[in-house]
Amino acid sequence: MTDRPPPPAARLRHLLSLREMPAATLHALLDRAQALAEAPAAALRQRLAGQALCTLFFEPSTRTRSSFLLAAQRLGMDTLNLDLAHSSLGKGESETDTVRTLEAMGVRAFVVRHAQDGAVARLAAALGPDTAVINAGDGRSDHPTQGLLDLLTLRQAKGADFARLKVLIVGDVRHSRVARSDIHGLQALGCADIRVCGPAALLPAPEELPGCRFESDFDAALDGVDAIVALRLQRERMVQGLAPPAEAYFRDFGLSTARLARAAPGAVLLHPGPVNRGIELSDELADGPRSLILRQVANGVPVRMAVLEALLA
Ligand code: CP
Repeated sequence: MTDRPPPPAARLRHLLSLREMPAATLHALLDRAQALAEAPAAALRQRLAGQALCTLFFEPSTRTRSSFLLAAQRLGMDTLNLDLAHSSLGKGESETDTVRTLEAMGVRAFVVRHAQDGAVARLAAALGPDTAVINAGDGRSDHPTQGLLDLLTLRQAKGADFARLKVLIVGDVRHSRVARSDIHGLQALGCADIRVCGPAALLPAPEELPGCRFESDFDAALDGVDAIVALRLQRERMVQGLAPPAEAYFRDFGLSTARLARAAPGAVLLHPGPVNRGIELSDELADGPRSLILRQVANGVPVRMAVLEALLA
């Protein structure tokens, strides 16, 4: 089964966003990721052999970059991690000329993280029809592969009927591309009860997230939810004065085992990482049995394999 091509529903040109991605495509990608997670490694090594992938990260990353490199290597790809600090960008070469130069060497897939909204799409538009671009996070807009791995993790824990799920996203929603990609994916799969909660200064305008219920009281927001996605405080994106003091944040919006009791029995915790321990989550909860944080990390590899196949196979 695993050496069969993915179904046509999952064929993609680029992966820039989960906005407007049809449910059939999402399901096909999740099904394929699940199959790849269970497949013997030897069955996959020729899948994308001879094709080259390059990671270009203009912002730091541990999980996304590493799991893309592992995913590509497990599918037999050649991988290149461009060291931006020592690249010719430092001599004034433009980002567009950089990707075109690498494309001329035979790179067929770029994985790009960028601080500016829309920057990854602009680079994709500069490349030829045989080259694919994957958004590894741009500004506060989109982080589609994080959205996919969160959906897979939720589906494994709670089943495939997303219409029955109540999901709470708590924290720095304003600056979070993860929150936006999670919401796009959840809504496409039929989840109708999505709540967002956080300090008023860290919430976007309600019209930015249509269909979501905004809650200012964390305990009320937790009532009966099946899953909580806690977000990282993105201090690097906050203008001065926006960052809340750590103690006050944990008191009002931090999640502990005791507070989780307000959620539905068996409620699970997700966090995209890295976690600010003692601010967003207590250690006990982050490392406890309700936490799916390391499951999310593990799912990142097969999800990114499924995406690479959908773009390149
Ligand atoms: N979740 C996530 O994007 O983590 P990294 O910044 O470590 O890639």
